[in-house]
Order: sequence, then C-alpha cells, then structure tokens
Amino acid sequence: MGLITVSCIKADVGSLSGHITVLPEMIKMMEDHLDAAKKVGTIVDYHVFNCGDDLETVMTHRKGRDNAEVHKLAWDGFMKVANYARSKKLYAAGQDLLSDSFSGNVRGQGPGIAEMTFMERKSDPVLIFACDKTEPAAFNLPLFKVFADPFTTAGLVIDPKATAGFSFEIMDVYKHLKATLHCPEEMYALLALIGTTSTYAIKRIYKKGSESPEERIAAEVCTEKLNVLAGQYVGKDDPVCIVRAQSGFPSVGEVIEGFTLGHLVSGWMRGSHKGPLMPVSLKYATPTRFDGPPRVVGLGFQICNGELIGPKDLFDDVSFDHVRERCNLIADYMRMHGPFEPHRVSEKELEYTTLPDVLKKLEQRFKPTEE
Ligand code: F6R
Ligand code: MG
Ligand code: MG
Repeated sequence: MGLITVSCIKADVGSLSGHITVLPEMIKMMEDHLDAAKKVGTIVDYHVFNCGDDLETVMTHRKGRDNAEVHKLAWDGFMKVANYARSKKLYAAGQDLLSDSFSGNVRGQGPGIAEMTFMERKSDPVLIFACDKTEPAAFNLPLFKVFADPFTTAGLVIDPKATAGFSFEIMDVYKHLKATLHCPEEMYALLALIGTTSTYAIKRIYKKGSESPEERIAAEVCTEKLNVLAGQYVGKDDPVCIVRAQSGFPSVGEVIEGFTLGHLVSGWMRGSHKGPLMPVSLKYATPTRFDGPPRVVGLGFQICNGELIGPKDLFDDVSFDHVRERCNLIADYMRMHGPFEPHRVSEKELEYTTLPDVLKKLEQRFKPTEE
C-alpha cells in the first residue's frame, strides 16, 4: 500500500503494413527491456500492448510523476524498438521520437504520456484506455458522461460517496493554459469548453472532497499534441487515459458505459477526417479501412502493492457488438462525404497536415472580385 505511480508512456515507432499494427516481436522487445528494469527495482511492474500502430507501456513505480529514470527507461525502450523497426524497414519507423537524445522528460519529445500518483486503496481497480487514429479530445465526451452525466453513471445519484460530483481540469492544447471547473454546478460552462474538441481537452478529473489529491485523483488523459510539437503533420496524437474505478469513483461498468455511442472524433485518414470512435478488443485494434475507423481499447487491472493484476480486455464482450455495428454504419455514411466537411475536419484542424501546402499553390489563382 502507500503511494504508487502509474505511468503510461506510448509511441508510434514503426508499423506493419503502413500504419496498421506493430509486430509481436516489438512488444516482446519492450517487455524484455522493462523486465530488466523490474528485476533491478526501477519499476514495480509493467504491461506492454499495442493499439493499432502505437506501442503502449503501463509501468508502476514508487518514484512519482515526471521521474527522469522512469521516463528514460521508456525512451530507451522506444529507441531500441525503433531501431529494430528501421532494420525491417517498417513504415514510419521512429516516427514519434522527435529528437535523437533524451532531455530528462519524455514530455515534448514526441511520446504520449498519462501518469498519476495515488494512494493505493484496499482494492484498487485501474483502467487504461488507448486510442489509435485520433486525438486527446476524443476522451472529452466519454469522460464527461462517466463523471458528470447521471444517465451514464448511476453512482452520481445513488452512491453517497459520489453525489458531491467531480472537478475537471481542462487544457487549451494550443496555448497550454488550464482551468478547473466543478460539476454539477458548472456543468454548462464545462460543456461550453469541452464541446470545442479542436481546442479543449480534459486533462484530469478529481473527486470532490477534503482528502488529499492522491486520494481524489480519478482520471488523467495524455494531451500532448504531436503535430504542434513537431510543427508539421507527423501522425495523430493517439492518446491514452488512466481511470480509477469503484468505491466512490464510477464503477468499471459505468466507465465502460461512456464508450457506447461510437461518437465522432477527429483523426482517421491522414489525421484529417471525422469518424466514429469504435471500442474494440485488443484483437481488433487494427485500423485498416481508410486507415481506421479510429479505435479505442480498454484494459482493466487491479493494483496489488504496485503489482498489475490482469488485464481484462474490457471491450471483448458481446454487449459491444451493436456499438461496433453502429460505428460501421456511421463509417459508411461519413465516407460517402468523401473530401467534404464534416467528414473532412475544419480548416483550423488541418493546420498541421499537408493540406496548407496544397492550398498555398492555389493562392495566386484568387483575384479581387466586385461580387
Ligand atoms: C493517420 C495516419 C495515416 C497516414 C496516411 C498517409 O494518423 O498516420 O492515415 O496519414 O497513411 O501516410 P503517408 O503520408 O506516410 O503516406
Ligand atoms: Mg503510424
Ligand atoms: Mg497511431
């Protein structure tokens, strides 16, 4: 028991074929790398998986957030795997590693990160969600539903430990500004912000109350904007999210309920299209059609003195079949719009893609008009 930190650090370091998936040996390579660190006590435990072309690590340790040793461990692992990907000429090998050397913290260097330190409870279910072919704000709608909508989370009405509500830390992902809004009393103001998914992303969620932040922390999303960091289109941010469940937090089932819409998110082909976020089992985290549609996987762990028990593949259940069916229908409908908005994302969102280069060439074709 005591304070434990969960660090999810992920990167796209190359994939097969095009941008679909990572090779099993890349997962094994990262597992071996983290296993060596576990043996010498740098980390307590780890789990490695992939969502599409993104290699995802979950590490538990006692070193707190932003620890240089833990970040370097992940960075070195990604470097190793990227070198392997290069040796096999996998597609976009080393894509998310924006510099050659480690700066002391992976933030700003390309990999995505969600990291939280909390007081381990008597029994502590921790859920990890990872997306491919979309951006951090893809979590806005499901996390709002899970932590603020009583039609999704019955506990907001029924559980005396949850009725006070939750506080949301919101990030302006371009200006790097943050604001905290409290629910239910500021729900409309919160929605006024997070409904603008092109600018605002939920960063953290806390349970209200007088306990320490390490007891109240409920969720954290990775909000690194890869293309803003790189100054050009590199790939979508493909975020991860950590959610704590049960005993005053939403239950595991209530958290999963947040992903039943198949809501529209930005990303998909060339990071330039809106499509439904499809919840899938790990087996189907393979975005093939038009490089998508965007996927989300969920892994359920129990933390036991820092040890990761599990995972349970959360969307590997027949109760999600009809959600996936709906996503396929929405995908068909959206695809029929071809290059037109709202399938194609707005001009602002295309800033960091290759479209501005195309538009630049057309600039001299425009002449003044009296009309
Ligand atoms: C999505 C993504 C892909 C690529 C697309 C074109 O995040 O990375 O959809 O944008 O496959 O890739 P290039 O330009 O490398 O041929
Ligand atoms: Mg890729
Ligand atoms: Mg990806």
